[in-house]
Amino acid sequence: MAVRLGDTAPDFQSDTTQGPISFHDWLGDSWGVLFSHPKDFTPVCTTELGLVAALKGEFDKRDVKVIGLSVDPIDRHEEWNRDIEETQGTAVNFPLIGDPDRTVADLYDMIQPAASDTNTVRSVFVIGPDKKVKLTLTYPASTGRNFDEILRVIDSLQLTANHQVATPGNWNYGDDVVIVGAVSDEQAKEKYPEGFRTLKPYLRLVAQPKVPALES
Ligand code: BEZ
Repeated sequence: MAVRLGDTAPDFQSDTTQGPISFHDWLGDSWGVLFSHPKDFTPVCTTELGLVAALKGEFDKRDVKVIGLSVDPIDRHEEWNRDIEETQGTAVNFPLIGDPDRTVADLYDMIQPAASDTNTVRSVFVIGPDKKVKLTLTYPASTGRNFDEILRVIDSLQLTANHQVATPGNWNYGDDVVIVGAVSDEQAKEKYPEGFRTLKPYLRLVAQPKVPALES
């Protein structure tokens, strides 16, 4: 069954390139990104894993643990990692799940038979510290994902979780944000003594609260 927004992310035990894990324990109190790849030794996946390795510091700043998956076994991942380091200039610095029996792929509905009977699609799950699923994305094998966009969504999700604000279309870090409806005008006046703009009673904008870890 599909994993939907707000569901508890299914827990599992698995072997990874950094040793066996129990997923929820491995996440601890952090945010998480679980993302799948169709297959080892494929070109688009090779570029994606190099990219995520290069962005690891950005995920760390946001207290997000990243973990990849493909249905190939660990020894194949390890062999492939050498190619990733050679061609992308960055060694894979996060765990890759080996899932040859498709336990995790099936739990997260990552095999979509009309696309491929054997390979996982490019799924992304962002999971909050409460283990709830905050974002799902599904891309076809032929399109590499934009990991800057995944970081952008994480910034939005964390602002919502910590500051009761939402982010408008095409928002980027530093742009004004939306005060959520659950915050009354009276509460907003207290919360934002420097003011906010009311364009409509349901559309109130305010300067984005700063996130210290992202300001340097
Ligand atoms: C790739 O990563 O390049 C890829 C994987 C499976 C099918 C098509 C492309």
